[in-house]
Amino acid sequence: EITEQFTSGLPKAELHLHIEGTLEPELKLKLAKRNNVDIGQTTIEEVQKTYQYDDLASFLNVYYPAMNVLQTEQDFYDLAFAYLSKAAQNNVRHVEIFFDPQAHTSRGISFKTVIDGLYQATVDARALNVDAALIMCFLRDFSKESARKTLEEALIYKDKIVGVGLDSDEHNNPPLKFARQFEDAAAAGLHRTVHCDIDQKDSIEHIRQALEIMEVERLDHGTNIVEDPDLVNLVAKKQIGLTSCPLSNGFVSPEMKGKEVLELLDQGVKVSIHSDDPAYFGGYISDNYFAIAKKFNLSREQVVQLARNSFETSWISPEQKNIYL
Ligand code: HPA
Ligand code: ZN
Repeated sequence: EITEQFTSGLPKAELHLHIEGTLEPELKLKLAKRNNVDIGQTTIEEVQKTYQYDDLASFLNVYYPAMNVLQTEQDFYDLAFAYLSKAAQNNVRHVEIFFDPQAHTSRGISFKTVIDGLYQATVDARALNVDAALIMCFLRDFSKESARKTLEEALIYKDKIVGVGLDSDEHNNPPLKFARQFEDAAAAGLHRTVHCDIDQKDSIEHIRQALEIMEVERLDHGTNIVEDPDLVNLVAKKQIGLTSCPLSNGFVSPEMKGKEVLELLDQGVKVSIHSDDPAYFGGYISDNYFAIAKKFNLSREQVVQLARNSFETSWISPEQKNIYL
């Protein structure tokens, strides 16, 4: 029987975590006050009442407007350092943090403000024994031209970024829309991953594009791949990581895709467990491990394998990987 103590103590790599999704109601209110931003709520209860969503689009409609409270470099630092302290408590040894620069540059915050604040927090987190890297995501519902400009800016800070990702509204925004930016990012030595959220329209086609044309190294969520045995064989063979987020999935699917995760694990796919937007989906990484372990009665070996997969498919150097594996 898996306990919370076990999932909490297990050394983990967090590979699917949106920093903007770690904005807890308390910090949201504090930053709103500090920056004189009216978010329409003044108590934690009122903020929590706005957290109503049952699909990706309705979640994003709550998620993006709240980012208005993030204004200064200090705000981004505080957000990231608060998360990294939580990561340390969860025995996260390595984390690759997503951030959405266009969600900020589109409202007049400079790329520099965002990355300087986030990056300094990752430097200071070394004192907490957490090794942290940043993954810049393109917003797939923004234009290609906006993505092109964003990559151009990002490349100035190339040494502070480990890779690129693709998130936000998947509907009618296939990965291939950003093929050029992913090619340019690869040429600049950046790693690549793409969100293929659960149960989206054209899920399998999006997964196919990401794997076969854009040659991503991981898929975020991606568990709908079980519908296509050929693609499952491909990700198993190429050791592509699939970053599943049970509590996030639970908002959309009653079974949190647990059966799919177990089936993939059984077939040797490098699937792993993460938290997506913990401040919005009710739990950090240890809670996500515990939720799936409990609901699907996972064995200790299965839980340990999920954690091993997170280190194996992380973008840390092979020497560093040996320390964890
Ligand atoms: N999918 C797409 N965009 C997102 C997500 C997600 O799960 N979380 C934060 N932005
Ligand atoms: Zn995500």
